[in-house]
Amino acid sequence: AAGGTRMKEYAAPAEALADATRLARAMTYKMAAAALPMGGGKSVLAVPGDLPDDHREQLLWRHGHNINLLGGNYRTGPDMNTSSADMDVLGQVTPFVFGRTPAEGGSGSSAPDTAVGCLHGIKASLAHVFGTDSLPGRRVLVQGVGEVGRRLAEMLAKEGATVLISDVDEGRTTTLAEELGLDVVPVGDELETECDVFAPCAAGGILTAATIPRLRCRIVAGAANNPLGDPADGARLQQAGILYAPDFVINGGGAIHLIGYETLGWSRAQVEAHLAGIGTTLSEIYQAAVNKGISTEEAAEQVAEARLAARPRPAGV
Ligand code: PHE
Repeated sequence: AAGGTRMKEYAAPAEALADATRLARAMTYKMAAAALPMGGGKSVLAVPGDLPDDHREQLLWRHGHNINLLGGNYRTGPDMNTSSADMDVLGQVTPFVFGRTPAEGGSGSSAPDTAVGCLHGIKASLAHVFGTDSLPGRRVLVQGVGEVGRRLAEMLAKEGATVLISDVDEGRTTTLAEELGLDVVPVGDELETECDVFAPCAAGGILTAATIPRLRCRIVAGAANNPLGDPADGARLQQAGILYAPDFVINGGGAIHLIGYETLGWSRAQVEAHLAGIGTTLSEIYQAAVNKGISTEEAAEQVAEARLAARPRPAGV
């Protein structure tokens, strides 16, 4: 199994555990949807705010030792608030780590390819709703301009979309807005802001029975893991007439990058072909959802479950 290591503050340990479990489940679906020969897992390091560098390093070493106890059944990689530099630190104590810097023998950050995959997904979603995937004239709101979100915003702007950005860290939006001439949406207004595509690229759990009625977009397609409060919110989006790109399909680009380069020995051309495949898979899911009269979330889960069921299993499992 593989899945990133997330560093985050939680109100209580039980919340961190629940997050890790939910994220691990999503990783299993992500691997299946991207046809990667791996299961899903996740690590969550629940921290009391920003750590001083030496504490961060010690925590990562301890985490690396714990990963070793799993004997290679789980490999980790970067995730929210962890970078390739952190993976290099983990790599000092465990070989079971993806996404180290190229200098340390890794394939580097998975964020750029996560953004590329997400862009393919946004285009497939536009094509389904509007009959064309052309970006000029489309308004896309990117919520969260961290490693993935800012790259996505940049690519969208380059292709001619009108890009709006927001982030809880206002320093980030100001810099990016100045660099690329984008519009900034104040934090708290992103759900109500009118746009064609709302692209959540920050924390999960933002789309719920309470927030979905506030949305003024046609499509939700972003890179965040678990943006739905629960799977029933997929049906709520459908009822609201909003096309939802299931997260574990559209954000598979990071997994494709890390596992493609580091386990499967893929070339750049192979990685790019698989990233483009995210768009194809989404189009198939959208069509299946229409044909069956179900939500896109449900259709995507069916695709993932079918691929999981078809997998050869080790004896006794
Ligand atoms: N954390 C990223 C994700 O959820 C990248 C990643 C993929 C890390 C697979 C490890 C393994 O997709």
